[in-house]
Amino acid sequence: MNQMGDVPRGLPVERDAGPFDPPSGLTRLRETRPVSPLVFPSGHEGWVVTGYEAVRQLMADTRFSSRQDIGVVHDLIPMEGLEVPTDPGPQQPGLFIAMDPPDHGRIRGKLTGTFTVKRMKTLEEGIVAIVERQLDHLASLTPPVDLVAEFALPVPSLVICEMLGVPYEDRETFQVNTNTFLNTDVTFEEKMAALTELTTYLAGLVTGKRAQPDDDILSDLARDEDLTIEELVGIGFLLLLAGHETTANMLGLGTFALLEHPEQLAELRQNPELMPNAVEELMRYLSIADNFYRYAIEDIEFGGETIPEGSTVVVSLLAANRDPKKFENPDLLDINRKARGHMSFGHGVHQCLGQQLARIEMRAGFNGLLRRIPSLKLAIPADEVKLRTNMRIYGVHELPVTWTETAA
Ligand code: HEM
Repeated sequence: MNQMGDVPRGLPVERDAGPFDPPSGLTRLRETRPVSPLVFPSGHEGWVVTGYEAVRQLMADTRFSSRQDIGVVHDLIPMEGLEVPTDPGPQQPGLFIAMDPPDHGRIRGKLTGTFTVKRMKTLEEGIVAIVERQLDHLASLTPPVDLVAEFALPVPSLVICEMLGVPYEDRETFQVNTNTFLNTDVTFEEKMAALTELTTYLAGLVTGKRAQPDDDILSDLARDEDLTIEELVGIGFLLLLAGHETTANMLGLGTFALLEHPEQLAELRQNPELMPNAVEELMRYLSIADNFYRYAIEDIEFGGETIPEGSTVVVSLLAANRDPKKFENPDLLDINRKARGHMSFGHGVHQCLGQQLARIEMRAGFNGLLRRIPSLKLAIPADEVKLRTNMRIYGVHELPVTWTETAA
């Protein structure tokens, strides 16, 4: 077959099927060719993988590299305000999401004990307390308010600051810089300035913790002389960012989705014990972190195709999570569904390290929000909510909400 004959150019990103559904072009691609060639905007002849089984298999196959310094070109979804380089940058020390085994395991292995289900359970009370404090703040405001700015964004940031051991007096500057770095409404220069401030701050923080360790994740890591200061900064930066935008957008878009499915919302209010299941289903249904990149380090026979060495391959977790071969009525939000097995936390060696933490934050966040603000509703028509199309992490830019009364 002429592989590049009717090859799609660029990924379909327009949410023409509704704010919560995959772009119809993506669904068509999964139906016609779940492992398909794709021309990237740079002209690179790469591949896109959309079928559930193929995505799962690919993410477990380390012949598909995660290294960014050997050619993965992240130019499919341009990040607003950020010029995406077409040449791969150097390998960042400590940034293990972009490393392959065995380097990857050397760093990740130092953190697995910290993020176990058991360790996270012990932190749950503290996380719920952070969520409740943020809800106190939210409930003290006069609606309408933007749920993203006042609740969804601060919660993961406060939680990770606590875990990393960022002192209280530094948290405001830290949060401002993180938000500037993640914000879409700022210039490239402002983003880069925030990035420099963040990494400079982290370098000072880990140097201090190495000299005088405390009771937090960065101190535990800093005690380990096997890790350099640069690696500690990279790890801190990854932990900070990987869990921030993702969890925040799950809280924001998840609330929007529940408000738009009133019968599901009513059932959840009546049966709060459904929350853990509802969170898994929201993760599957929304798949806010959709695209991840890999790089074929050899010719690979895959899904009936030959992926040549040097190809950049992008997977769509969203398309995989809506594959009818895996989930019945995949486009239905059903909080009673057994959604475990979804791909929203990835799969294989890079499977999300913070998934237990994210689950705790989301359960506490949605639980608290439903309990404290029972009359919560959108303050603008649903079709006016600004969606983060064309962004690496999907969600809502703002979610103006209102209410008539709050509960204790
Ligand atoms: C990796 C999703 C929350 C830390 C990943 C991956 C996905 C993902 C899909 C795999 C990336 C790949 O294969 O290249 C999410 C979603 C979240 C979330 C949807 C929220 C709802 C968090 C939180 C943390 C975190 C709260 C905590 C700090 C990480 C780290 C990695 C990762 C460190 C890299 C793991 C590795 O390369 O070994 N995440 N994540 N994530 N996530 Fe999360």
